[in-house]
Amino acid sequence: MNDKNIEFYKKINLDKFKEFARLIGLDTKIDIDLIYPYIQSAKILVELGAGYGRVISALLERNFQGQVIAFERVSELVNYLKDQFSHELLSKKITLIEADFKNFSITQQADVVLWLWSGFLELSEKEQRENVKHICNNLTENGVLVIEIPIEVKHIGEQAGNQIIRVETEWGTIEAYMPRYDELLDYAKYAGFVEVERKDYLTATSLKRTIYIFKKCL
Ligand SMILES: C[S@@+](CC[C@H](N)C(=O)[O-])C[C@H]1O[C@@H](n2cnc3c(N)ncnc32)[C@H](O)[C@@H]1O
Repeated sequence: MNDKNIEFYKKINLDKFKEFARLIGLDTKIDIDLIYPYIQSAKILVELGAGYGRVISALLERNFQGQVIAFERVSELVNYLKDQFSHELLSKKITLIEADFKNFSITQQADVVLWLWSGFLELSEKEQRENVKHICNNLTENGVLVIEIPIEVKHIGEQAGNQIIRVETEWGTIEAYMPRYDELLDYAKYAGFVEVERKDYLTATSLKRTIYIFKKCL
């Protein structure tokens, strides 16, 4: 499922990408404000799917002190990120990895893995389950995985039944799998996380979304 979606991100232009963030109400970076207490002291933070750098900018704006390792596989976006964050890439505060983040490998364990703005939904149920486990194995003892997804799919999403969401645009279609809450808790248990904290919130455009904080220890 995730591999089929690559064309969508190759073809979306930057203005449209940013317009989506505004439409959803994530351009205000409210999600980062909500999770910041959980992530601010991380030494190593991994971001899965950096997009146009919304999250990296938010971290820099908040004077995040840790090291950021960001994965992005679309070369057009990687080039944009290299341009935007040239200074931080040079100082090695940010490491940009142009690669598929599924089953990623990093030399050190991460304190935080961020998987925001619905990116998690782009994996099939099996991929979601296995990737949560892989991430848990790559986290430090006190590490956390943060997943951010919608509660209701409105505006740009169309429900296609069987928990599959299809978003159709003029430049491509994106498919996603919306796990039920009990499935998410099951992924966590299977992976070895001991707790999942849930934070429901409203975006600036009044969309209902939620943040799951998967914790390796209490
Ligand atoms: C919805 S955007 C989220 C961007 C960013 N995380 C944010 O919150 O603003 C998802 C991003 O993940 C990237 N992506 C999706 N699957 C990927 C994969 N398997 N490996 C690397 N990047 C991926 C897409 O190219 C896209 O830029």
